[in-house]
Amino acid sequence: MAIKVAIAGVGNCASALIQGVEFYKNASDDTAVPGLMHVNFGGYHVRDIEFVAAFEVNRRKIGKDLAEAIWIEPNVCARFAEVPTLGVEVVAGPVLDGVAPHMKEPFCTHKDEKMLDSEVAQVLEDAEADMLVNFLPVGSHDATVSYAKACLEAKCAFVNCIPEFIASNTEWAEDFEKKGLPVAGDDIKSQLGATILHRNLVNLCVDRGIKIEETYQLNLGGNTDFLNMTMEERLKSKRISKTEAVTSLVPYEVPTRIGPSDYVPFLGDNKICYLYIQGRKFGDQPITVRAKLEVEDSPNSAGVTIDVIRAVKLAQDRGIAGPLISISSYAFKHPPVQVPDDLAKEWVEDFIQGKRER
Ligand SMILES: NC(=O)c1ccc[n+]([C@@H]2O[C@H](COP(=O)([O-])OP(=O)(O)OC[C@H]3O[C@@H](n4cnc5c(N)ncnc54)[C@H](O)[C@@H]3O)[C@@H](O)[C@H]2O)c1
Repeated sequence: MAIKVAIAGVGNCASALIQGVEFYKNASDDTAVPGLMHVNFGGYHVRDIEFVAAFEVNRRKIGKDLAEAIWIEPNVCARFAEVPTLGVEVVAGPVLDGVAPHMKEPFCTHKDEKMLDSEVAQVLEDAEADMLVNFLPVGSHDATVSYAKACLEAKCAFVNCIPEFIASNTEWAEDFEKKGLPVAGDDIKSQLGATILHRNLVNLCVDRGIKIEETYQLNLGGNTDFLNMTMEERLKSKRISKTEAVTSLVPYEVPTRIGPSDYVPFLGDNKICYLYIQGRKFGDQPITVRAKLEVEDSPNSAGVTIDVIRAVKLAQDRGIAGPLISISSYAFKHPPVQVPDDLAKEWVEDFIQGKRER
């Protein structure tokens, strides 16, 4: 059965997701695809994902077929699959706070700021979307709220890939539960990105009895995600999300600085992360861990998103509503329940087999 997916924000993450579905559509069930938990996830193959609606504010993307819109500037995601026409026209979404003043030009923002939430709900209903995946820029609080409300109205599940707190917010979680809809989030965690690397190094230190004294994680990139994040006011929830993902694993207070640190245009979709952990070991002797990670940013989260989409569909099939604890702990930086990654993975396997309800 098809999983009908709508997208808010046809940027680099959407491009990687849509290309990924095409790239792995013929993967055989028993192959290991790097970045997916399973090719066959609880009975759903990657090719079961069907894109049915897309919202944008970029006037060059609006009106285009989704398969064409993913290549339009300022998108810079690597081209790793040829996507055939999808028959889905990108429609104008409400701008609200999705576009920061310095992003109006790069995002070629359309002028109609009066679109109402109900129109989004109507599009979702008409498309019979099972879920909406939120790929708006960091700092899009009002826009995220508006799309989430439209989902409640249209009886559509919500997958929140950005650092606004919906799945991890009790009131929102209850709203989705009351409507009989699953919600997963918040802030997608990449396959092997700065967060999971930092979490694992910190976990190793704690496990080996290192007393961590200070740590930082500095990130550089050249895509519009990084350009948007040069405005510190938009970063409040991003810093909380990324910082808590790491500090939640340390049973004591540690001076910590984590976040996006600069925009370097010529890096394009390449992201560079510098990690540093300073601590003390046996005999009060110092230990320093430094790591540098270089990664293509957008495809790094696409496989994880494909797993999330299938977990949400499984929940819908089973009539499970509200925050999906297992997949959110595994796949997001700021889930409703924060646990070590190996435990979260076990939870997802149990969820797939129906041993865990959510
Ligand atoms: N590995 C990753 O790439 C990763 C990991 C975690 C979180 N995220 C988050 O996912 C989100 C998307 O990342 P991205 O790299 O695709 O960003 P992007 O800048 O490439 O895309 C964002 C898109 O949203 C559009 N947009 C802005 N306001 C809108 C609105 N109100 N309605 C509809 N569309 C709107 C923009 O025009 C743009 O096309 C960001 O918040 C990012 O921080 C990405």
